[in-house]
Amino acid sequence: MLISPVPNKTGSRGNSEKGLIMTQISGQVEAHFHKTFKQFDSYYNQNKNFLSRLIDSRFRRSMQLRFQKIIDGVSPYSLKTVLDIGCGTGRYCFALASKGIERALGIDFAQNMILEAQRLATEFQFSHICQFIQGDFLTLPIEEPFHHVFAVGVLDYIDQPVPFVKKMIESSKESVMISFPSKGGFVQKCRKFLFQKIKKCPVFFYTQEDINRIAREAGATHFTIEPLAQDYFLTIKCHR
Ligand SMILES: C[S@@+](CC[C@H](N)C(=O)[O-])C[C@H]1O[C@@H](n2cnc3c(N)ncnc32)[C@H](O)[C@@H]1O
Repeated sequence: MLISPVPNKTGSRGNSEKGLIMTQISGQVEAHFHKTFKQFDSYYNQNKNFLSRLIDSRFRRSMQLRFQKIIDGVSPYSLKTVLDIGCGTGRYCFALASKGIERALGIDFAQNMILEAQRLATEFQFSHICQFIQGDFLTLPIEEPFHHVFAVGVLDYIDQPVPFVKKMIESSKESVMISFPSKGGFVQKCRKFLFQKIKKCPVFFYTQEDINRIAREAGATHFTIEPLAQDYFLTIKCHR
């Protein structure tokens, strides 16, 4: 089983203390999500006003569709283990725990995301199923494979996608599921401007050909790529 230090609660991110090697890009991404964890999690709030629901339906359709793809992709749930990379506040793990999976491990390098996921796990009484650890997926040791390994809304912020996907494949014994934001169009231009110029957080976009190449270079042989609103959704079958 993967073992990692439980983050402290001092509020400091403390990555250098943990010996994590971060590139400038991953450092900016981690800083952004550490700061904005509350705003990010509010997407999952059910009691939204009309304006927020309108924005969600226009700009965040992908988030709803990919959530459903993961829920369907993991089924049947009994005795299954999942690894949620870039888990944020753990909402996917909680949804799967409520469906009956055996174990969920969420990894995220943003400390506030992990602290909030741990708090919610206690609040929802899922701590015996869902575990959350802070760290960069690329440098954390994964000592035994999980049935399903997924990263949703994460490849948007990864500058080296091939080693990332390769490690996901190595960590899985059944499937790997990944969302990729698609290149082109008005929404992509708005998002790129907002993230890079205003939020100072790097963001990356992909064509279907890019994803095909990334999957092959990462060692995938059996995979599908589906368009999903503003995303593509890659499913890789793993054989162990
Ligand atoms: C947009 S959030 C998505 C959270 C969650 N998957 C969801 O959809 O609710 C992206 C998350 O990926 C995390 N992340 C990005 N690169 C990472 C890496 N290399 N290792 C661990 N976490 C990473 C960020 O800190 C952030 O919390």
